[in-house]
Amino acid sequence: MNLDRFERYPLTFGPTPIEHLPRLTDALGGEVQIYAKREDCNSGLAFGGNKLRKLEYIIPDAIASGADTLVSIGGVQSNHTRMVAAAAAKIGMKCVVVQEKWVPHFDAVYDRVGNILLTRLMGADSRLVDDGFDIGIRKSWEDAMQSVRDAGGTPYGIPAGASVHKFGGLGYVRFAEEVKAQEAELGFQFDYIIVCVVTGSTQAGMIVGFAAQDRAERVIGIDASGTLDQTREQVREIVDNTADLVGLGRPVSDAEIVINPDYAYPAYGVPSDETNDAIRLAARTEAMITDPVYEGKSMQGMIDLVRKGEIPAGSKVLYAHLGGAPALNGYSYYYKDG
Ligand SMILES: Cc1ncc(COP(=O)(O)O)c(C=O)c1O
Repeated sequence: MNLDRFERYPLTFGPTPIEHLPRLTDALGGEVQIYAKREDCNSGLAFGGNKLRKLEYIIPDAIASGADTLVSIGGVQSNHTRMVAAAAAKIGMKCVVVQEKWVPHFDAVYDRVGNILLTRLMGADSRLVDDGFDIGIRKSWEDAMQSVRDAGGTPYGIPAGASVHKFGGLGYVRFAEEVKAQEAELGFQFDYIIVCVVTGSTQAGMIVGFAAQDRAERVIGIDASGTLDQTREQVREIVDNTADLVGLGRPVSDAEIVINPDYAYPAYGVPSDETNDAIRLAARTEAMITDPVYEGKSMQGMIDLVRKGEIPAGSKVLYAHLGGAPALNGYSYYYKDG
């Protein structure tokens, strides 16, 4: 397997820290040791997050294409469009992002604060449209691409979550290699890796990277999309494409793609009471801030799996914290009393 032959444009600080979380560990009974890999602290670019690791392998292709405008898509509070806007600012390109009504959540300032505020601040042309949640290729995105051409520009398209892009999975293959090197320093291996999954390339990249270490089935995806079949299918597609690209040398089996659908309720972008309890617990024990759309749900999943004993006593768990905290501002009413 070889990642080095793909060009990488550095957008992050480098390897992300792995942090032990002793107070969260104790709050969950002390039998399972919990650690976090802090992808949320990976960069100085507009608060960072998982998308930057993916974009590092996409930006060289965008530059080589001769484009002058990055075009992407997400929900109103999309972390991804914030990160595309950040990458565009950093490399001196223009940016158009389509922001769809993915979330049935009504807050007076939902389209003014958090991610979308930062996106606009970085100079992106943020276009609000009425379409609902869908992780696939959208007409509104094709329309935005065309509008750039019509204005005499050259667009470079990046799909939702940078996922079904041909290089979308590479960044998280690198994550798996990084974890292996950090484990060698720590002197132990993690038994499970917990990761939130929606558009799929974060987990898909990890699956390929950890398949090369014969432990892909230890990556537990916690679905936050609420559209499990589509997410699973998209993960499968990205796994196959990425495995091929990096030369994994063997097919990845269905058993190596583990996605738990139990925590996505009541809907994408809407936290349950249990999600909010998980967000509070991580904040109060470790000052680790998770959000109601993504990381709060994977935090909820990890907490529940530990409490139910499905992650057995004696295990060491690595929670991949993928970012996303800016969205909290669009949900302030939930947390008005903490
Ligand atoms: C903070 C955060 N966590 C998790 C995810 C899910 O990652 P992916 O879309 O690669 O499945 C995203 C993006 O969708 C995200 O912004």
